[in-house]
Amino acid sequence: MKKTILLTGGAGYIGSHTCVELLNKDYDVIVVDNLSNSSSESLKRVEEITGEKPVFYKINVLKKEDFRNVFKKHAIHAVIHFAGLKAVGESTEIPLKYYHNNITGTLTLLSLMQEYNVKNIVFSSSATVYGEPATLPITEDFPTSTANPYGSTKLFIEEILKDLYKSDNTWNIALLRYFNPVGAHPSGKIGEDPNDIPNNLMPYISQVAIGKLKELSVFGNDYSTHDGTGVRDYIHVTDLAKGHIAALSKLDTAPGLIIYNLGTGQGYSVLELVNAFAKITGKAIPYKIVNRRLGDIAACYANPQKAAKELNWKTQFGLNEIVRDAWNWQTNNPDGYR
Ligand code: NAD
Ligand code: UFG
Repeated sequence: MKKTILLTGGAGYIGSHTCVELLNKDYDVIVVDNLSNSSSESLKRVEEITGEKPVFYKINVLKKEDFRNVFKKHAIHAVIHFAGLKAVGESTEIPLKYYHNNITGTLTLLSLMQEYNVKNIVFSSSATVYGEPATLPITEDFPTSTANPYGSTKLFIEEILKDLYKSDNTWNIALLRYFNPVGAHPSGKIGEDPNDIPNNLMPYISQVAIGKLKELSVFGNDYSTHDGTGVRDYIHVTDLAKGHIAALSKLDTAPGLIIYNLGTGQGYSVLELVNAFAKITGKAIPYKIVNRRLGDIAACYANPQKAAKELNWKTQFGLNEIVRDAWNWQTNNPDGYR
């Protein structure tokens, strides 16, 4: 029998790519999303890619009674919990909104899962929980810390899930710490669709390349990295999506509480990304060096060995495919889903 997976936040960037991979693997998919940072068009595109339609509920996970109906109606095998607000800068301006949405939203979900005896969950955590790492690459046993309200919500939710597991080890919990998700589905039908001027590097570069934005501001060239600009571990969103399937399989075969880095193990600097984009697309990317962005760290990249060994999961796409697919998405959808 097909297993039914509930995706909170499944209409969003990573969620929609995960829908595709789940449907391709013959899971049934239910999406709960309030569309606060996404469009239901993404799910129509998922259907165009896979030929199958995820069941969709436009529900805020904070609205427990509305959300309860989903648990009443469907026999859910596992939940992948993407729903959350994710803008680091905004989280410092309106922290209460972030704490409420991300933490109360998770507590609401978990209480319903407990009530309906759905005890398998994969949680979208982030490399941000490592703070500024003392050494690189980062392994899962590195100390954790937090530098902004967004990061705090990720760390606190991890702690909540660990406490839940300690209290009842019949729960099966995967904490997936994503590095920097980028790129788009190779079909060019789904991708990242920022509402406003992008905060993140890759969508910003894409919009400069297509002429929507004038130039990139490079936040600092005086870091202790090989060219002075920030280094990150950019992971193709399709590889990341597949990591969720690997985690679900692991929870089915070897239950417990598991923590994995989902990254490539390779760090690229801002300027390396700019140059790769210019080379692959043939478009000039004008940029200027400006001051460092508050809260940014010099370098962050994963040691992905644990996931390779235990989940049998490895990234398949490199920087060329990342840029190719980001550009394909951008040129096919200059205004995103609008
Ligand atoms: P996204 O904003 O595209 O997707 C999140 C989805 O959750 C959106 O569709 C939004 O409408 C929905 N949502 C938010 N609050 C909700 C609520 N109360 N009820 C129902 N739906 C709600 O973001 P994404 O990049 O796809 O990120 C998915 C998850 O991964 C998030 O939890 C994010 O914090 C985490 N993450 C993202 C990154 C990244 O760089 N993209 C890195 C690490 C971790
Ligand atoms: N950068 C620029 N100019 C820009 C945007 C970014 O120079 O306009 C630089 C940053 O300084 C950094 C690098 O590009 O060195 C990457 O920045 P992003 O904003 O794309 O990504 P971050 O590493 O800052 O943060 C991302 C997510 C977080 C998540 C973290 C770790 O936004 O939510 O990765 O997973 F926590």
